[in-house]
Amino acid sequence: MQTNTAGEVRLSRYKAWDLPTRLFHWINLLLVLLMMTIGGVMMFKSDFGISGLDAKIGLKTLHVWIGYAFAINLAFRLLWGLFGPIKARLGKLLPKKGELAGYRAALKKGENPQYLGHNPAGKLAVIALFGLLTLIMVTGLVRAGTDIFYPPLGGMVQEYIAADGVEPASLKPYDDTGVNPDKAAAIKGAKGLAGKVHVYSVYLLLLLILLHIVAVIHAERKRQPGIISAMFSGNKYLPTTPVDKD
Ligand code: HEM
Repeated sequence: MQTNTAGEVRLSRYKAWDLPTRLFHWINLLLVLLMMTIGGVMMFKSDFGISGLDAKIGLKTLHVWIGYAFAINLAFRLLWGLFGPIKARLGKLLPKKGELAGYRAALKKGENPQYLGHNPAGKLAVIALFGLLTLIMVTGLVRAGTDIFYPPLGGMVQEYIAADGVEPASLKPYDDTGVNPDKAAAIKGAKGLAGKVHVYSVYLLLLLILLHIVAVIHAERKRQPGIISAMFSGNKYLPTTPVDKD
């Protein structure tokens, strides 16, 4: 730890998160909250006094439109994590051999290692978060196609299930007119599975988000002050050289 002549701890400023990464984080939080709210209303619509096919399809359509914004934001972050600057790379999330054990041993010894990016425990949480978000995005897009014929798969689904001689684009969601029943039955399994995985992943995501928030507040108060403000400003002010400084 560096101190000045008066014995005060000297903090050095380090650039931790770039602007695109921070923007992704806060936009993602906002959209996930919005999607969870709309998804919740969809699940319990009768409790909200919402009934009728038009309202049901309307809610799903709204969910899907906001889902596109969520998917674009996530896809951008995944690409930024592959082609963006080193600090934003997803490869940095993979813990190195013995890294987590070393971190826990250091904490046990009363040391307080500082990190520019995530600490080794945080890396595992972020990998799980990205995995779940991606699964929710993929299953959501599958559901959007199979349920209400929305892109990117909706056109293909309509073409597949349309009865002979029926114009695929004329098929309407939740309406069997012009549908080949055998073909509709053939995709039912995949459609149901995507729906189940989508919803259970959301439950798991909710749990992980709560854990993430508790862990971040704990780290902020006990070990790594300033990690929350760093996700706004991009900067971390650290008393020692960070372990993961390139
Ligand atoms: C973090 C983001 C997301 C959350 C929290 C979320 C949440 C939910 C929830 C709770 C449901 C269940 C509603 C029900 O059973 O009636 C649902 C269904 C659905 N979601 Fe999402 N969703 C997300 C992302 C997406 C995306 C990206 C899309 C596609 C663009 C999408 C498309 C759908 C569709 C079409 C349904 C209806 C499925 C059905 O009727 O079973 N979702 N979502």
